[in-house]
Amino acid sequence: MSAPQIQRPLAARRSGPLRGTAAVPGDKSISHRALILGALTVGETRISGLLEAGDVLDTAKVMRQFGAQATRDPQGMWRVWGTGVGGWGAPADILDFGNSGTGSRLVMGAMATTHITAVFDGDTSLRKRPMKRVLEPLEKFGATWEAREGALMPLTLNGADLPIRIDHEVTVASAQVKSALILGALGAAGRSRIAQTSLTRDHTEKMLKAFGANVSVEPLKQGEIVHVMGEVELKPCTIDVPRDPSSAAFPLVAALIVPGSEVTIPGVLLNERRIGLIDTLKDMGADITVSNARESGGERIGDLVARHSTLKGVEVPPDRAPSMIDEYPILSVAAAFAEGRTVMRGLEELRVKESDRLAAIVAGLRANGVNVDESEDGMIVHGGDVAGGGRVVTHMDHRIAMSFLVMGLAAKTAVTVDDVSMIATSFPTFENLMEGIGVEFLRINA
Ligand code: S3P
Repeated sequence: MSAPQIQRPLAARRSGPLRGTAAVPGDKSISHRALILGALTVGETRISGLLEAGDVLDTAKVMRQFGAQATRDPQGMWRVWGTGVGGWGAPADILDFGNSGTGSRLVMGAMATTHITAVFDGDTSLRKRPMKRVLEPLEKFGATWEAREGALMPLTLNGADLPIRIDHEVTVASAQVKSALILGALGAAGRSRIAQTSLTRDHTEKMLKAFGANVSVEPLKQGEIVHVMGEVELKPCTIDVPRDPSSAAFPLVAALIVPGSEVTIPGVLLNERRIGLIDTLKDMGADITVSNARESGGERIGDLVARHSTLKGVEVPPDRAPSMIDEYPILSVAAAFAEGRTVMRGLEELRVKESDRLAAIVAGLRANGVNVDESEDGMIVHGGDVAGGGRVVTHMDHRIAMSFLVMGLAAKTAVTVDDVSMIATSFPTFENLMEGIGVEFLRINA
């Protein structure tokens, strides 16, 4: 299991105006998938712009444990030499996924239709996260598992000896579960059918097509079905990872709430299943423009410019949640500065993220004098002036840490977060990048 990090508190105070360019790192979801698909492909896959953060580097390490080579050249180009679908070898040691739900769940799927047995583990946050949502459907392929009570890590997964194709409906709104089953289906002869009622992010499907897999998507009145043909050889690919919209969200909201700001974020992934935050902020009156929209590797990307704006509260449509599921912590900060109520519902999935994010957001808002009503699946933020001055407990959650630091940039008094060490799991350059556009952090003793 990952060694516990030493806690490092940080505060952010009224700053700005924020100006300049914030080149956020590569998309986390696409980075994990590029490494895993590269490892399932015989030949050399080249990846530029890979997110070199804890979560993704843990996935790279695990791919090596299965027998793939994954190297980085001095210019930052990654090369993965995989062993093919069905070609992974048994790892000699436990697989440590650190803080990463995405890495661990996707790899469970990819491994479920091999002959391999492996032990999956992670840090204290990952050890609390539900794995049954993935493990139970993987049984349909013929995989078996044993886990700590509650289907928690550490757990052992035994891949199927004779994988059977599946016909399964994913009932939870999770791209990780859908993707795990799609990756598993690659190793089972015949056509698997994976249905989902919500439209969760579709990077696995898109990237698999680029790798030459036989994958098709059938739209339904509500949701869609992904059809995957198993035992098809993948072809090596060249992938240019776009910048992560979930990381872009922090300088974006910072620019909106700090008077006089104008910040450009170039080359951001604008996949329509990832941009719910931009739509919502625009509904709130945000001045955000998208320019130079273009296609890159089957994904839409573009440059964002955000300018300080007077925001008003809105009702966020609950069916928008899958397209902005990681952005509710930073949206709640924008909502705290908006005039009136912002109503957010359909957020039950936030309770099982890197922390119980709903509880962590509500506690963080209250610690900084913001009035908020919490329910089982949502919250209502009553916005206006933000007093700040609070110390926020991050619960090993990188997005809680970054969101409340952004709050400090426009609150009356500085906001402190108890630990920023976990930010390195998704956005290691956060502090430098934010300082580069004019943010003032206060480094304080633990
Ligand atoms: C991800 C899916 C989402 C998201 C996570 C990344 C992915 O999780 O929260 O950060 O890359 O598939 P769920 O599948 O649990 O919704």
